[in-house]
Amino acid sequence: MAAAMTARWCAVVLAVLLVAASCCDARQRQLWGPAVKAVGEKGVGNDADLCKSLVRRNWTLTLEDNFSEGLNTSRWEVRQNQTHCEPCEPQLYLSKNVYVANGSLVLKTDRERVVGPGGQVFNFTSGWVDTKERWYQRFGRFEINASLPDRRSTGIWPAFWLMPNPSTASPVDVCWPVGGEIDVFEYTANPFVDAVFATFRWGPSCGDDKQPLPGSMYPPEFRAGSVDFTEFHTYAVEWNETTMAFFVDDECYHVKTANEVSIPQDPFYLILDTAVAWYFPPGPDALYPVYHVIDYVRAYK
Ligand SMILES: *[C@@H]1O[C@H](CO)[C@@H](O)[C@H](O)[C@H]1NC(C)=O
Ligand SMILES: *[C@@H]1O[C@H](CO)[C@@H](O)[C@H](O)[C@H]1NC(C)=O
Ligand SMILES: *[C@@H]1O[C@H](CO)[C@@H](O)[C@H](O)[C@H]1NC(C)=O
Ligand SMILES: *[C@@H]1O[C@H](CO)[C@@H](O)[C@H](O)[C@H]1NC(C)=O
Ligand SMILES: *[C@@H]1O[C@H](CO)[C@@H](O)[C@H](O)[C@H]1NC(C)=O
Ligand SMILES: *[C@@H]1O[C@H](CO)[C@@H](O)[C@H](O)[C@H]1NC(C)=O
Ligand SMILES: *[C@@H]1O[C@H](CO)[C@@H](O)[C@H](O)[C@H]1NC(C)=O
Ligand SMILES: *[C@@H]1O[C@H](CO)[C@@H](O)[C@H](O)[C@H]1NC(C)=O
Repeated sequence: MAAAMTARWCAVVLAVLLVAASCCDARQRQLWGPAVKAVGEKGVGNDADLCKSLVRRNWTLTLEDNFSEGLNTSRWEVRQNQTHCEPCEPQLYLSKNVYVANGSLVLKTDRERVVGPGGQVFNFTSGWVDTKERWYQRFGRFEINASLPDRRSTGIWPAFWLMPNPSTASPVDVCWPVGGEIDVFEYTANPFVDAVFATFRWGPSCGDDKQPLPGSMYPPEFRAGSVDFTEFHTYAVEWNETTMAFFVDDECYHVKTANEVSIPQDPFYLILDTAVAWYFPPGPDALYPVYHVIDYVRAYK
């Protein structure tokens, strides 16, 4: 209890420190703010009631990628020599950090100095794949089964998220976050909070994020060991015209409805990546490289 309270207090202090930090586009965020309802608790309050009210579907598989035949590059684009949210994210995405091993997709994050597209020096390399303009879907269930890096590698920031497919969005190329951003899960390794979090970002005008703080977290306790994210778990969102519900291992812990947010009505594409957070000093060199390993990706209608 005391430990949990201390951890919660730390999280709030951290949030206050972090509120000043800002970034540049999608996944712009601060973490663990007091505005987050019941920080660290899954399915509390409104979420718990909404989770209970969900109508579970009989889903039909529309995409299955278990990487048994390698990476299907007609579906997945591997980003090469690409930055994201520069200069706040200190990783350079390279294709060499993305590969298939033992039937799983591996995104490797390493500490190494490399030169980026504009001649800038980066201290980390990592992997990013997405299905932009290649595979996208409006509504359904989107799920991955993945193992995440060791939380001692502080700042390491794996995610599975969905963004509006530019050419099929209305309007075309809709700006962030007007078209929405579905963060199926994110995880930031750190000493304070051992939890993944699900968030939906949206806003009325370009750059105006109505949810600058994460949605809800999983699991409820601030202690390591309640869920070991280095083991394989499934992370999913179920999204329809009016509702978005987020799951870890089929347990609902966060819901957004059309009463609270503007639920997107356009097709979204898939992104798998591992960033490095600028607001935590990275863990010791000895921990690197670290791996975000995706056993499979599935989508259903
Ligand atoms: C969307 O999902 C919610 C929650 O399960 C359900 O109540 C609602 O009927 C669904 N809407 C449609 C159009 O299927
Ligand atoms: C779900 O789909 C299966 C296969 O199409 C069908 O046999 C089953 O009756 C469906 N169940 C419900 C509840 O619709
Ligand atoms: C892997 O996915 C393919 C579809 O892409 C499917 O046909 C196959 O059964 C899957 N294999 C396993 C072991 O799940
Ligand atoms: C590879 O991806 C393309 C585009 O999504 C798809 O049409 C094709 O069936 C995939 N191939 C395999 C072997 O899954
Ligand atoms: C593949 O799996 C084997 C057995 O678990 C393991 O020893 C090996 O390191 C793995 N290979 C890679 C490239 O991860
Ligand atoms: C990235 O692109 C720049 C400009 O072409 C090049 O100088 C640099 O070596 C590239 N970096 C890597 C790691 O490939
Ligand atoms: C990279 O690390 C060096 C120290 O090794 C530091 O001086 C430099 O500011 C770092 N660069 C970035 C972009 O963080
Ligand atoms: C997730 O992947 C792991 C490793 O392949 C497997 O043991 C586990 O059963 C999978 N979980 C689900 C729900 O498929």
